[in-house]
Amino acid sequence: MIKCIIVGYGFLGKRLARELAAGKIAGVKLAGIASSKGYIYRADGLAHEDLPERIDRARGFEEAPASEMIRRELADLLVELTPTNIESGEPGLSHIRQALEEGMDVVTANKGPIALAFEELSSLAEERGSLLLYEATVGGGIPLISLQKRCLMADELLSLRGILNGTTNYILSRMHFEEMTFELALREAQMLGIAERDPTLDLEGVDTALKLLILANSLMGLRKKLSEVKIRGITKVTSEAIAAAKESGMTIKLIGVVGENGLSVAPRLIRLNDPLCVHGTLNAVNFNHRILGNLTIIGEGAGESTVSALLNDIYEVVRARSRRL
Ligand SMILES: NC(=O)c1ccc[n+]([C@@H]2O[C@H](COP(=O)([O-])OP(=O)(O)OC[C@H]3O[C@@H](n4cnc5c(N)ncnc54)[C@H](OP(=O)(O)O)[C@@H]3O)[C@@H](O)[C@H]2O)c1
Repeated sequence: MIKCIIVGYGFLGKRLARELAAGKIAGVKLAGIASSKGYIYRADGLAHEDLPERIDRARGFEEAPASEMIRRELADLLVELTPTNIESGEPGLSHIRQALEEGMDVVTANKGPIALAFEELSSLAEERGSLLLYEATVGGGIPLISLQKRCLMADELLSLRGILNGTTNYILSRMHFEEMTFELALREAQMLGIAERDPTLDLEGVDTALKLLILANSLMGLRKKLSEVKIRGITKVTSEAIAAAKESGMTIKLIGVVGENGLSVAPRLIRLNDPLCVHGTLNAVNFNHRILGNLTIIGEGAGESTVSALLNDIYEVVRARSRRL
């Protein structure tokens, strides 16, 4: 039985905990959950009814950092779901580093550590014979990374283009179809909970850049840093520019590109009939392979769908461990 701990018990952590405690993945037992306040740990596993709304009010609550629970003798698998920090990657980076050093497997949705320290963390995982899986960091539940690594590894990925941020795509879609101003579309997105109260990272293109970086470094073997991505967000996209694009069968989307000219994120004109041109909160990625040619994959890029990617990565850990035995 694989003992799993979840560090970060917020939107994703709670939903994943419910799936694991309900025994949705055979061979995996949820042994611990942690928030910023502390953790609860039970070696024999947490049942569905043991899962609290707030960890600090639960029976067995330990007011101590999550790092105390990230130990090989307590758990085999860390699922790291703390907030993304684009400056230092912390606290996720230290949690993941510690787990890998302990010889644990790691699954994460946290973009910070994977975007900022991919090389270090993947080398460490390889050295310790551990798995580091991060499908959920890009495109929510859309299996972008496993698609490339499992189904297309014999082909060569030459370039990719993607709409990787649901918030900005929602705003641009409302500007296109409802002829809203940027400000109004943003306010609507905030009211619906699609945009965060501080949406700066989304609007300025930084969230897209982090995801692009993860795809470029992990799927194309590049060694790029965030500072090497040319980034322009959507705050200066006007209703007039969208109306002019519309007149010629086009629109404007925030598109990330990895190609001959490096990595860039910018609002770009795109034909309405381009398969990449999805609307609302949808994400889409177009891969260009040497033999296969173009392949576009579309889906919900965040929210509950992300739990699907986390579960699949956990399932992959189960499969790998059974092969190791
Ligand atoms: N939500 C999505 O749709 C989505 C999709 C893809 C990727 N992601 C990424 O997945 C991660 C989790 O997202 P989320 O939406 O679940 O975040 P969230 O709701 O903000 O939850 C974050 C959790 O991390 C905990 N935390 C913060 N600092 C901690 C520390 N030092 N030690 C232990 N726990 C700590 C928080 O504890 P407190 O409650 O005590 O503050 C909270 O429980 C983020 O990196 C996010 O970018 C999210």
